[in-house]
Amino acid sequence: MIPGPFRNLALIGFMGAGKTTAGEALAARLGWAFLDADREIEREAGREIPAIFAEDGEPGFRALEERVVGRLLTQPNAVIALGGGAVLSAVTRERLRDGSFTVLLDVSPQTAWRRVEAEAGDRPLAGEARGFAELYEARQSLYHTAADVVAPLQKRSIPHPIRIADKVSIRTRS
Ligand code: S3P
Repeated sequence: MIPGPFRNLALIGFMGAGKTTAGEALAARLGWAFLDADREIEREAGREIPAIFAEDGEPGFRALEERVVGRLLTQPNAVIALGGGAVLSAVTRERLRDGSFTVLLDVSPQTAWRRVEAEAGDRPLAGEARGFAELYEARQSLYHTAADVVAPLQKRSIPHPIRIADKVSIRTRS
């Protein structure tokens, strides 16, 4: 069931699911703002994500991520792309339930790896294929628990973000 009313739309899913690309398309379609949590975290820290991991460790990054995502999720009329590990936080999962229409972009581990491999240096947790696949498996149940709907990546003529946007605008109107 989709809870409502909701103030914004949150995109969750593993690294390489296409959250930023889909989020930009969704926001344009809905006439909403697009907010990218990773970019907001970097802006707030004044450092890029690999530097935050290197200097503050993953716990430091997660604490900052929880705080920034908490702020973003209060924004009305926005599409918010969350980093792949944001749902590790129980606080964030609770905030998602409280007013965000949460869409899981489901991607296979193979596709995700293909997409991030080329730019693994940008993602501290995407260093090698085996660890990446294990992390993927470990997170699956969290993604599905947090999601209101699952958007599988499909080879269809209509890109899935557009179909999601149509569903959302129908619900916004009703
Ligand atoms: C992470 C995913 C990244 C980024 C950080 C940690 C993760 O975001 O937040 O590198 O733990 O899955 P993307 O999912 O946008 O790549």
